[in-house]
Amino acid sequence: MADTETDAGVDPAFRQAVLDGLEMRPRAIGARWLYDFKGSEIFEAITDVPEYYPTRTERGLLEAYSGEVGEAMGPGRAVIEFGSGSSAKTPLLLSRIDAGAYVPIDISGDFLRESAETLGKQFPDLPIHPVEADFTHRVPLPDAVKPMAKLGFFPGSTIGNMVPPSAVDFLRAMKQTLGEGAMLLIGMDRIKDPAILVPAYDDAAGVTADFNLNLIDRINRELDGTMPRDAFAHKAVWNDPLARIEMHIEAVRDVDFTVAGKSFHMDKGETIHTENSHKYGPRDARILLRAGGWTMVKEWTDEDSKFALILCEAQPERTAP
Ligand code: AVJ
Repeated sequence: MADTETDAGVDPAFRQAVLDGLEMRPRAIGARWLYDFKGSEIFEAITDVPEYYPTRTERGLLEAYSGEVGEAMGPGRAVIEFGSGSSAKTPLLLSRIDAGAYVPIDISGDFLRESAETLGKQFPDLPIHPVEADFTHRVPLPDAVKPMAKLGFFPGSTIGNMVPPSAVDFLRAMKQTLGEGAMLLIGMDRIKDPAILVPAYDDAAGVTADFNLNLIDRINRELDGTMPRDAFAHKAVWNDPLARIEMHIEAVRDVDFTVAGKSFHMDKGETIHTENSHKYGPRDARILLRAGGWTMVKEWTDEDSKFALILCEAQPERTAP
């Protein structure tokens, strides 16, 4: 495997995640690897499928209640968005609050520059300071916003991708990034009837199936894999004890394949776990936030309580005896 030609451009972390994940029992490959360029495009398409309610519902909440967020926190805050991506939801918030500055943080510099430019045209008087960084750790903020009060913004129920211990670590990292007196506006998807949840992750048109199985194409392309796509199917299940939707790639027949020169076998019915989407009831959400250093101030939900937009404030490091 000393062939520099075939190794060129391969992300060694992706290769490691796939080889380790196929070795592991149960097999699992982290959700972040679903979001290559193609995967991100398919995810955008998911947000439009009729069964996938979260994006639509959260947008509705931001349209209806951002004004109240502005009232609850007052003017002049620097809005810090974590994993801003294309900043698609940001204008819904920025147009209804009196922000002092906007700081989008993302690992993808390309996305960042593009969206900062688009937002700059829409909000010509708002100072915008993009930061290219891994937001799962404390991120130093630009000097210009240091004196301002902060509002963290983490929409999309992205926190649901993380298992609770990671979610708590991440909430703590956001608190460190934002500093004392900060507030946080976070979107969280709620526990509901599996008859609604499961189709949201297994839509009739097969867009979510495409999203999940795109990982096979990526493995075959980038890691010289031989996984036959027709041996695998998308599977979405509600795991009630862990309160999460799980996405798996299931072998629909016995199958042998290689990845990066290593051989693997899967029996019919065995799966590779590819993504979690944790759901939180109202009290669950509050205890998770508190464990991460945040106290709920106010929350808004749609009439069916499908999704929650929660405003919280950084709690003092120690509040108990
Ligand atoms: C991007 C993590 C919020 O969990 O709802 C959607 C990802 N995966 N359909 C979610 C996803 C399949 C999505 N998040």
